Amino acid sequence: MSGKRKSRAGAASASSKRGKGEKEPPKEAPAEAEEPQPQQQQQLKERLNGADGAPAKKNLPPTRARAGSGGGGGGKEEEEDECRFVGAPLPDVESRHKWPKRYLASGKKKKVVNVNGNKEGDNSEEIIQAKCHYTKANVDGVCYDIGDDAYVKAGEGEDNYICKIVEMFEAIDGSLHFCAQWYYRARDTVIKQLSYLIDDKRVFFSEIRDDNPLECLVEKLSIARVSLDVNLDAKRAVIPPCDYYCDTLYLLPYSTFKQLPTDHKVDGCETSSTISSDDVEMASSASEVNSKEISKKNNKGEVTLLDMYSGCGAMSTGLCLGANLSGLNLVTRWAVDMNEHACNSLKLNHPETEVRNESAEDFLLLLKEWQKLCVQFNLIESDGQQLPYADLFNMDDGISDEEEDSNDDDGGSDGEVFEVEKVLAICYGDPKEKGDKALYFKVSWKGYGPDEDTWEPIEGLSNCFERLKEFVVEGHKSKILPLPGDVDVICGGPPCQGISGFNRFRDKDNPLADVKNKQLLVFMEVVEFLKPRFVLMENVVDLVKFSNGFLGRYALGRLLQMNYQTRLGMMAAGAYGLPQFRMRCFLWGARPGEKLPQYPLPTHDVVVRGVIPIEFEMHTVAYDEGHSYELQKKLLLEDAISDLPPIGTYDGRDEMPYEKGPQTDFQHFIRSSEKEMMGITDSLEDSGRLLFDHRPLELNSDDYERVCCIPKKKGANFRDLPGVRVRPDNKVEWDPDVPRVYLDSGKPLVPDYAMTFVNGSSSKPFARVWWDETVPTVVTRAEPHNQAILHPEQDRVFTVRENARLQGFPDYYKLTGPIKERYIQVGNAVAVPVARALGCALALAFQKSANEDFLFRLPDVFVNKLEQHSSASSENDA
Ligand SMILES: C[S@@+](CC[C@H](N)C(=O)[O-])C[C@H]1O[C@@H](n2cnc3c(N)ncnc32)[C@H](O)[C@@H]1O
Repeated sequence: MSGKRKSRAGAASASSKRGKGEKEPPKEAPAEAEEPQPQQQQQLKERLNGADGAPAKKNLPPTRARAGSGGGGGGKEEEEDECRFVGAPLPDVESRHKWPKRYLASGKKKKVVNVNGNKEGDNSEEIIQAKCHYTKANVDGVCYDIGDDAYVKAGEGEDNYICKIVEMFEAIDGSLHFCAQWYYRARDTVIKQLSYLIDDKRVFFSEIRDDNPLECLVEKLSIARVSLDVNLDAKRAVIPPCDYYCDTLYLLPYSTFKQLPTDHKVDGCETSSTISSDDVEMASSASEVNSKEISKKNNKGEVTLLDMYSGCGAMSTGLCLGANLSGLNLVTRWAVDMNEHACNSLKLNHPETEVRNESAEDFLLLLKEWQKLCVQFNLIESDGQQLPYADLFNMDDGISDEEEDSNDDDGGSDGEVFEVEKVLAICYGDPKEKGDKALYFKVSWKGYGPDEDTWEPIEGLSNCFERLKEFVVEGHKSKILPLPGDVDVICGGPPCQGISGFNRFRDKDNPLADVKNKQLLVFMEVVEFLKPRFVLMENVVDLVKFSNGFLGRYALGRLLQMNYQTRLGMMAAGAYGLPQFRMRCFLWGARPGEKLPQYPLPTHDVVVRGVIPIEFEMHTVAYDEGHSYELQKKLLLEDAISDLPPIGTYDGRDEMPYEKGPQTDFQHFIRSSEKEMMGITDSLEDSGRLLFDHRPLELNSDDYERVCCIPKKKGANFRDLPGVRVRPDNKVEWDPDVPRVYLDSGKPLVPDYAMTFVNGSSSKPFARVWWDETVPTVVTRAEPHNQAILHPEQDRVFTVRENARLQGFPDYYKLTGPIKERYIQVGNAVAVPVARALGCALALAFQKSANEDFLFRLPDVFVNKLEQHSSASSENDA
């Protein structure tokens, strides 16, 4: 279910909250104590820290093993074998006030869940009732105070657990306990085997608590609270000598990692979380200054977006629509994609965007070269190194030899001399197809027209210092390329074909080594270089499925490694008002000091299909089962396309009149202008709007003949053709009583591939989608051979526009390129309503209005109901 589901993220008990395979802190007293292996506290610390200061990975001996003195006298031995509270108990009134659930009427045990800021769940635990509370304890000669960090004995052969002691009490049966609030090592979090990305000394605080026998305390630890900082050197500089350090809070729902306040005090009180949101606010505002410095706003007050792997720009379009509707002036300033047609579509719809038609890896190298050029021409500060291109320009002080001298027209006595008139463009690549990539500039030549413009390597322009300088100065001013700090938000869906279920040669053992997954690494490197305030990465659900979710864990781990806050959720497009299911992963990243964006709850009631691994099942963005919020009914095909004019399979028009007005709320909304979609009434532009891209893939004559034979009824497909029989096991076979029918071309009416597709069990070949249905996922191809893509009542496949409607593209969004390329752009897209809802989440985070919940309810204006829009599209659009 997406609109709703049975159990709730964050409602499990302490133990069930841990993902499968995640470590479970001890609940019982250690079994048998082993013979002592005497050690002093100091020696132990040294051993733990090792020569390089990293904590030893070895398991510590169990508590009792350390009883007995390492050189102490007999009296001390006795002392070190102790496990007791120290000092007088806290006054009864105070204890009852702080931990009321420990002092219920005698004999009663209340079921309750640990703190996690979440509701109680079915797996709640029984609360141990207390006689009295203490603030100090002595275990094996080590004195512990409430609030201390400590090792807690784990199972045989396992590393000790790490906790903060948040409560110490004697139970009514006389047993002694402490309540532990757990720290996670990186490997015990969702990133698991990718923990090598994270410093060994870094631990993650959780809100998970549970009670343990006092004797499980093994060792006192010093865990430094440091502030999360994307500047790794600055972060390292503030880490004091310690056993571990901690800057991040780890919450299991949606694999959330949030910045932890540095100065938070421990108050074991059961009525309050140890981490108050005030603390977070304080810590945030401190580093806010940092991110304000970083984000140099341009004078239009724009918040800048870089769309990586942009395709035709659906994701950024949706994000900008949603953000603007929520009061944030988000603008796609840069976009990168290696598909030329997709770039052209994006440019057509977003003239304000610098669209770069190149590979992401070349773009990354270009950004680094651009930074060097900006240093070279004194536009930004260098980090103390010499000018990057000093040698090239034969300079050591930033001033070149007078290049113009050598540039004079009559520089040579014989032969033609070419003079660079202007530098026009820059790229990192191989535009001359020489087999080597490098930094190139496009130049126009004095006395020659645009047809003679050429790409030249930077070495070839060493005597054109001034021309280059003009280009870089101008480019820096107009921000043709972003520098670190220029980008507020990076979004993108790095293609990971190496994990796609369609790929039979997936490398399960090492998905990162598979070149087909390389773009995930490139995307993260772009983030690392530009250090945006926010990141939103989209991907297929295989990200958390393939190879036990390896790449999903990697993506989270990389963001954590860069000291970003992060969370991961899965959203079904249909739940945001589309007749298409389409489940995708969305990963947020936020710099320290920023609010971590939430996920927008569904607006429409859609049932979740497909398999998500148990560990990530609760990452589906959904309402609780039994919630009282009234969701909109799920959309059907009819809602989306019933207003579109009938056309034939050979209709090649790129634009045409609508012929009739919108019939449904959805149609009314999808026909709105860009301004209307951003909440600005735009009635003037309404009349005379044309319908674009309502053009189908032309069927070849054989397929057209086949399609004409498919009945116009619900559920119709190739199985309705003569000669096909369906067995009781729902597989097809030839009917021996019916002679095979042949087309005019001599080919069979029912092709063999239809009969054998999925071993004869599929009804998808040549299937019509009926008016009351939803489609599973719009894909990039339009051939009807193995997917349901036929119009319910016309003899053709869905047009580009019909697919675009199913993906939530506004009708004003025009696509370019050959027809197959347009289908690809639409099929590749992030469903616009999903991106739009996420744009709202982004705006809330930007405006610091996001709260501490994982999910939030979208404002009504996002529901796409007629009354919520002031759209003036008339019923008589013609
Ligand atoms: C899933 S699509 C992105 C769709 C886009 N986010 C949208 O919402 O419209 C992936 C895109 O990555 C592009 N692509 C693939 N490999 C690339 C690379 N190495 N560098 C840049 N773009 C690449 C493809 O051309 C394709 O348009």
